[in-house]
Amino acid sequence: MKLVYADFNATYPCSDTHLDMVARVMKKTQGNPSSIHHFGREAKLMLEEARGQVASLFGATRQSLLFTSGATEANNLAIQGYFKRFSKDPKATDKPHMIITAGEHPSITQPAEWLRDLGVISLTQVPLTCEGTVDKDALLAAITDSTVFVSIIYASNETGIINLAEELTKEIKQKKPSIHVHMDAVQALGKLDTSWIGSSQLDSASASAHKIGGLKGIGCLYLKPGSALDALVVGGGQEQRLRSGTENMPGLVSFGLRAREILASPDWLQGCRKVRDHFVEQLKQIPGACIHGDLAHSLPNTVNFHIESLGGDVLMLQFDMNGVAVSSGSACSSGVGSPSPVLLGMGYSEWVALNSVRVSFGAGSTVDDSEHILAVIKQAVGGS
Ligand SMILES: Cc1ncc(COP(=O)(O)O)c(C=O)c1O
Repeated sequence: MKLVYADFNATYPCSDTHLDMVARVMKKTQGNPSSIHHFGREAKLMLEEARGQVASLFGATRQSLLFTSGATEANNLAIQGYFKRFSKDPKATDKPHMIITAGEHPSITQPAEWLRDLGVISLTQVPLTCEGTVDKDALLAAITDSTVFVSIIYASNETGIINLAEELTKEIKQKKPSIHVHMDAVQALGKLDTSWIGSSQLDSASASAHKIGGLKGIGCLYLKPGSALDALVVGGGQEQRLRSGTENMPGLVSFGLRAREILASPDWLQGCRKVRDHFVEQLKQIPGACIHGDLAHSLPNTVNFHIESLGGDVLMLQFDMNGVAVSSGSACSSGVGSPSPVLLGMGYSEWVALNSVRVSFGAGSTVDDSEHILAVIKQAVGGS
C-alpha cells in the first residue's frame, strides 16, 4: 500500500541525514554543561552554539533564548510565569486581565482558563474573522486599564492562516505599552520570517523543534531582555534560573542544526506550496468541498476543509485504510472528538468544527501524494 504522510503540522519527521548529524555532534562530548571540568565546558560550548543558532531564527541574541521541553512548556512558562511574578507586585491592585484569541493552541488556552478559574485573572477571548485571522478591532477594543497580557498565535496549526503579528504587536503596545505581548510562533518558525522578533516590541514567543524537522521534546521561549517571568520549574538554576533541570542536549543540538540549515536555505518549504495549491484547486472540483480561511494569507503547506454531509470520521477511516496520514484537528486534540474551537471562532457550525480535516505537506511532498489523497476523498464522496 502506498503510504502518504501529510501531517507535517503535527510533527515534521527528522531526515536520516539529520539524525546522523545529531549523533555525530553528540559523540563529541557527553559532559553535563553545568560541570566546570573539561567535559562540562565542551558540553556548555555545544549548548551555547545551539542557543545562538536558534536565537538567530528569532533575530535575537543568545541571552534572550531559553530551552524548554517543548512549546507547551514554553507557552505555560510565559503565561504562568508572568502571572506568578505579577501576583507578587505590591502595586498590582485590580484583578489582572488577559486577552487571547479564539485561534490559540490548547497550550495557551488551557493555562489561561485555569488561571481564570482559580480567580487569578479575568480573561477575554477575541473572535476570528471568517478568513481565519484574529479580529483586530475586537482585540484592540478588548484592551482595558487592567489588561496586562495578550497572547496571539502567529500562524494557526489548524488552518495555517497567518496573523499580522508584528503589526498587531505595535498596535497593542501603542494602546498600552506595559502589556506583555506573547506569541505562539510554533507553526511560523522556519516557515515564515521571524527575524523581526528580536528587534520588535514583542515580549515573548514560543517554538518547537519537532515542527521543523528536529527532535521531539525540545522547544524554546524567546524572552525580550527586560521582560521578567518567574520560573515554574526550580532546582538547579539552569537556563537563567527560569527552567531548572539538566538540558536536553541531543534535543537542543538538533534544534540548533535545523535552525542553521533553515537560515542557510530559508525557502526550504516553498516547494510544497505548489503541491498544496494543486491539491486545493483539485479539491474545489469535488462536490461539497469547502475550504476554510483565506489561503492567500496562510502557511504554504496547510489546508483545512470539510466535505458537506460527509462525516470527518468516515473520511479519516478512508484515509487510514488507504495509507494516508492527515489530521482531524490540532495534533494535541486529535482523537478527542470535540469541535475545533478555531473553526467555531471563525463562525463555522459545530458540525463543521467536528468534521473537518487538516492536510499539511512537507518539503518532500509531491503532486503524486496530493493526487493520492484526492483519490481517497473522491472515493469517500462516491460511497457516501
Ligand atoms: C501552534 C502550536 N502551539 C504549541 C504546540 C505545542 O508544541 P509541543 O509539541 O512542542 O509541546 C503545538 C503543537 O502541536 C502547536 O501546533
